[in-house]
Amino acid sequence: MLTPKDLDLKGKRVFLRVDFNVPLDEECKIRDDSRIKAALPTINYLLEQKAKVVAASHLGRPKGEYIPEFSLKPVAKRLSELISQEVILAPDVVGEEVLSLKKELKEGQALLLENLRFHKGETANDSSFAQLLAKEIDYYVNDAFGAAHRSHASVVGIAHYVEKAVAGFLLEKEVDYLSKAVHSPPKPYVAILGGAKVSDKIPVIENLLNKADSILIGGAMAYTFFKAQGFEVGRSLVEEDKIELARKLLDRAQAQKVNFYLPSDHIVAAEKDPNSEVKTVNSPPLPPDLMGLDIGPKTVGQYSEIISEAKTIFWNGPMGVFEIEQFSQGTMKIAEAVASSRALSIVGGGDSVAAVYKAGVSEKISHVSTGGGASLEFIANETLPGIEVLSEK
Ligand code: 3PG
Repeated sequence: MLTPKDLDLKGKRVFLRVDFNVPLDEECKIRDDSRIKAALPTINYLLEQKAKVVAASHLGRPKGEYIPEFSLKPVAKRLSELISQEVILAPDVVGEEVLSLKKELKEGQALLLENLRFHKGETANDSSFAQLLAKEIDYYVNDAFGAAHRSHASVVGIAHYVEKAVAGFLLEKEVDYLSKAVHSPPKPYVAILGGAKVSDKIPVIENLLNKADSILIGGAMAYTFFKAQGFEVGRSLVEEDKIELARKLLDRAQAQKVNFYLPSDHIVAAEKDPNSEVKTVNSPPLPPDLMGLDIGPKTVGQYSEIISEAKTIFWNGPMGVFEIEQFSQGTMKIAEAVASSRALSIVGGGDSVAAVYKAGVSEKISHVSTGGGASLEFIANETLPGIEVLSEK
């Protein structure tokens, strides 16, 4: 992949796709600016090299309509503070006024377009919209790893209408780390998968069955696998329409000699409620009136031992309902186990990333990805649509 270092940037107008899809509170204040900070090396480099930077991002899913709550205004303010210079916020994404702002940009100046998803053409990857985005642009830089799995106009379409399309430094770093997990990862390779649904993880499990030595399952998705083995799981969340598929994945794991672990004990309660009475039960089966809401201490011990022997670890998805204190211990303890290991450790996905921050161990993880869906899709397909369109060296 080419990067901005391969371009002569002075005086060139650069469209910089970033992922500034940051969490906002009710007053539209930014709750976590790490995605903005993650793009700073690229932004600062472009500005230092005297490029004219036209940055663009989506925020939330406004579905092609202007909705004020989804404005990038707070982001423009925060970015201005972080780069210690004013970032002009455009009133829209395309149109005459925006075109004038693009043309008036001076060397070393930055303009931030409004939310790309205020236009339907963005998610539809509409070619006329992509051409409008590329108007007056010389080079395209994609630093939006978190959105690189989306075949949208600002991620894929635009690359066809510029002189060169390259990867920003964040995208380059993400791809470097994740590639290590897909191309000859040091063994033993342990994948830890959690979260509520098997359906979100099917392609990633399929690919991991060809690469990983052990797959450790946590979160509610474990119960669909238990059901597939014919066990009763009480009131636990089960994806009934995925039971057959779960059975096939278990058969494949056995045939390919991949150690596929399901929790051996569970933290259970009658409701997913902080006030519910909590018990630990061995499994399976689970009592009919209770639901599994976290992995139990025995499972934590067993999984932690496997993690301690790993040379490569990929983790996506929490082990339980970790936002509720009583059901958070499994996820916190697994975060600590991953952090204590000497393996190349990669954590991807909003919830598991939040968990490593909550556990205070993010510094001890080799790579905390800025992309949830994107990191999963990269592990599953070994590339992403937004990477495929970039210019080769
Ligand atoms: C994310 O938050 O995972 C990315 O910004 C992508 O957002 P999306 O799922 O709305 O496309």
